Amino acid sequence: MNFLSVLSVLLLLGAANATALEHPRTLIPRAPLPPAEFSVPITGKVPRRKSKSNALARRGHLGGGGGYTSIVDGTLGDNEFVTNVTIGGQHFSLIIDTGSSDTWAIQKGFQCLSADGTRVPQSTCGFGSSGFDVNGSTTFQPSNLSFLGAYGNGWSVAGPVGYDTVAIGGLSVEHQLVPIPNAAYYTGDGVNSGVLGLAFPTVTSVYNTTDPANATTENHLLYNPFFFTAVKEKKVKHPYFSLTLDRGTFQQRENDTFDANLGLLSFGGISPVAVVEPCVTVPIQGYSTNSTGSITPSDSPDAQYFWYTVDVANYGIAGSAELLTGSNNTILDSGTGLNNVPPDVAAAFAAAFNPPAVLTNLTAGLELYVVDCNATAPEFLVHIGGKTFSIDPQDQIVPLGADAQGNEICVSGTQGGTLTNNPNGILILGDVFFHNVVITFNPIDGEVTITQRAKY
Ligand SMILES: *[C@@H]1O[C@H](CO)[C@@H](O)[C@H](O)[C@H]1NC(C)=O
Ligand SMILES: *[C@@H]1O[C@H](CO)[C@@H](O)[C@H](O)[C@H]1NC(C)=O
Ligand SMILES: *[C@@H]1O[C@H](CO)[C@@H](O)[C@H](O)[C@H]1NC(C)=O
Ligand SMILES: *[C@@H]1O[C@H](CO)[C@@H](O)[C@H](O)[C@H]1NC(C)=O
Ligand SMILES: *[C@@H]1O[C@H](CO)[C@@H](O)[C@H](O)[C@H]1NC(C)=O
Ligand SMILES: *[C@@H]1O[C@H](CO)[C@@H](O)[C@H](O)[C@H]1NC(C)=O
Ligand SMILES: *[C@@H]1O[C@H](CO)[C@@H](O)[C@H](O)[C@H]1NC(C)=O
Ligand SMILES: *[C@@H]1O[C@H](CO)[C@@H](O)[C@H](O)[C@H]1NC(C)=O
Ligand SMILES: *[C@@H]1O[C@H](CO)[C@@H](O)[C@H](O)[C@H]1NC(C)=O
Ligand SMILES: *[C@@H]1O[C@H](CO)[C@@H](O)[C@H](O)[C@H]1NC(C)=O
Repeated sequence: MNFLSVLSVLLLLGAANATALEHPRTLIPRAPLPPAEFSVPITGKVPRRKSKSNALARRGHLGGGGGYTSIVDGTLGDNEFVTNVTIGGQHFSLIIDTGSSDTWAIQKGFQCLSADGTRVPQSTCGFGSSGFDVNGSTTFQPSNLSFLGAYGNGWSVAGPVGYDTVAIGGLSVEHQLVPIPNAAYYTGDGVNSGVLGLAFPTVTSVYNTTDPANATTENHLLYNPFFFTAVKEKKVKHPYFSLTLDRGTFQQRENDTFDANLGLLSFGGISPVAVVEPCVTVPIQGYSTNSTGSITPSDSPDAQYFWYTVDVANYGIAGSAELLTGSNNTILDSGTGLNNVPPDVAAAFAAAFNPPAVLTNLTAGLELYVVDCNATAPEFLVHIGGKTFSIDPQDQIVPLGADAQGNEICVSGTQGGTLTNNPNGILILGDVFFHNVVITFNPIDGEVTITQRAKY
């Protein structure tokens, strides 16, 4: 499949939106992570046997109906990772996004819009289903609220909000607030019907007005996203969710629109996958908002959590002793494909490919490090909390499909942060990083645990 287009590249560069409210900032002493109570395998055709068999073994352990698993899949050349989410008894594949907070599914009968707001056929939006049918749910309750979501890659969705039962991998929450937008500017993958947002309540996008066009900062209404409700209602013993995203093979990433079994989403503990050293638990970096609404990393007691932002002390390239610029403004974002690191780091990394990756205007205004698909990639090192995590060179050659002349185009998995759609200088460790670690998020205590995975 050739999907080299500005849109496919923008999907790789996906990201979050923002707003604000307080979140308690307390750090607790850490204990070893418990195994997950609920797990959602992420699906695939190829060598993912280890995580799959571990997941199934775990299911056996829990026994007696205690083990809940569903499947997570890769779509669009494994640039997006989706899992099966049930809303009011209806099943949808939603994009797993640790970089945003709203969990929504498109509503049946929605209007698909072009960039300039004109109505286009529903198929243009590329959703994977006809959408959530309010009449098909016996548990759905309407509200007078509305949703106005905007994503870093340009997507925007708007419409009503309701309450319904949401279930993922056997973890079920009743009367969860769920946006069901009826208008979308969206470039779907033909599989997903919306987003599963796992970040903080501060960056939810619901407003106390029946018309999303009247959304303002004054009527912005914060709510608890799915996982926060589950914790509040003590549906999980421990306030963890854990994400493992496997890499597909080069062939899958080049050509596949759908790959089953590409990892695990787990609730209540760490995903059951093979891990090695190192492992580190670090605090989530909070932000302070100044009078003009700008946010800066802050350790002050009134700091708020927006995303899963960590302090990357510095970066390195295997075989070189040089330490490259880090940043404590770095988000762990499963909804973004590529890493977005400081420009000097991206440049040093590009130079270490053989042959080197070259900064290129792929299309007007879209400058990326392009690399020979057959190049030898360097091993990238990420230093967090005094530990060094390694990114497999396989993840650094990302196929985008063929250009008009039929030449395969690949880009570096690690790009310069300021070169992309990147508000406030926020940097991102995306799926390229996630392929090498299992990340266990504890949003309640403000910590994340990063564990290196065994090579696969
Ligand atoms: C979700 O899982 C249900 C139950 O196993 C299945 O019937 C449905 O087809 C799945 N839906 C999606 C979108 O994967
Ligand atoms: C749901 O039912 C209402 C009232 O019967 C109807 O107006 C609406 O079109 C239905 N919605 C869908 C998506 O079928
Ligand atoms: C929405 O507002 C109308 C008018 O104020 C009211 O009658 C209705 O009960 C409200 N609906 C919900 C679900 O709150
Ligand atoms: C929403 O706004 C209405 C007034 O328009 C107010 O009565 C209501 O309390 C608000 N709801 C919430 C949850 O703030
Ligand atoms: C939205 O705002 C417009 C203009 O300010 C106003 O006329 C309209 O009544 C508002 N609609 C709702 C649903 O609040
Ligand atoms: C992808 O598919 C095209 C067309 O079938 C084929 O030429 C190409 O070799 C495939 N790429 C890989 C990496 O398998
Ligand atoms: C707010 O923060 C931004 C970014 O750090 C800075 O440029 C601006 O001057 C600050 N404004 C005020 C009023 O402090
Ligand atoms: C990291 O954040 C703190 C506030 O939490 C700030 O004072 C410091 O300058 C930041 N350090 C770097 C390297 O960005
Ligand atoms: C890409 O295009 C921009 C705007 O035309 C230009 O400033 C920049 O130098 C170009 N970058 C490269 C690597 O050619
Ligand atoms: C990469 O190598 C394969 C053979 O191993 C060759 O068929 C292909 O054309 C090469 N691709 C590039 C972009 O050089």
